[in-house]
Amino acid sequence: MSGVEEDLRRTADQLRRATGVFVLTGAGISAESGVPTFRGAGGLWRRFRAEDLASPEGFARDPALVWEWYNERRRAMREARPNAAHRTLARWDERFSDFLIATQNIDGLHQRGGARRVVELHGSIWRARCTKTGKLFRIDEEVDVESTLPPPSPAGGGAILRPDIVWFGETLPPQAVAQVERFFDEERFQIAFVIGTSAAIGYIQVWIYTLARAGVFVVEVNPDPCLGGAASATLAGPAGELLPRLDSLAWPCAE
Ligand code: OAD
Repeated sequence: MSGVEEDLRRTADQLRRATGVFVLTGAGISAESGVPTFRGAGGLWRRFRAEDLASPEGFARDPALVWEWYNERRRAMREARPNAAHRTLARWDERFSDFLIATQNIDGLHQRGGARRVVELHGSIWRARCTKTGKLFRIDEEVDVESTLPPPSPAGGGAILRPDIVWFGETLPPQAVAQVERFFDEERFQIAFVIGTSAAIGYIQVWIYTLARAGVFVVEVNPDPCLGGAASATLAGPAGELLPRLDSLAWPCAE
């Protein structure tokens, strides 16, 4: 039996026995939906400078350019559909009483795939925020962010809107972090999945190593794994293939 097959089998055993599941996702889970990742071959940070487009300084320098970049990405994300990995996680959301997805993604594909318990750590490309009042607006439904750049805020007085996205140098939304930490403190999950992330960001690494040290069964799903010894099992391959396989190994009779 190959390494992946053996790890699939061990993970399926753990999953079947678990009462709760924690899932941490990154750009790789949406790769099979056609959304580009940030790092690696074809990654966005190969072609664009993160500090120009995803930082408060970049926005202060050229807000229209930053909006153009996010508007283009939003158009592409609108065409993207949730893939088999998003749908498998949505089924687990229904199956487990204790369940949480913490995502670094801003594309909303977990929710569109049917998951309900999702914490967005880096904000959402579907929301805009007033730079003066901090009020949030749903893009398209409440505000138009394409006709005039940078888009004016409904608050008036020359205020503008910014994407409701966490940029480099900014802190994570405190409610999102609190929700994840509450879930950790309750200790009602035995298995954690780390899917499609290069774990390049410090707080992500801290969470993963904290879970591993606490004895949680950590499963990495990534064609190019990076967690090394922190992972109890490594499913080296695309999430859209491996998560449905894992699901049918764990519950062979389920639809
Ligand atoms: P990265 O682009 O850093 O990493 C994507 C990971 O997904 C890589 O490890 C790939 O090997 C893996 N991958 C690719 N295809 C996959 C597939 N089909 N199935 C599973 N995994 C696959 O993206 P993130 O780790 O999400 O922040 O990056 C974290 C943050 O850094 C992002 O939220 C963004 C970025 O800069 C901001 O914009 C502030």
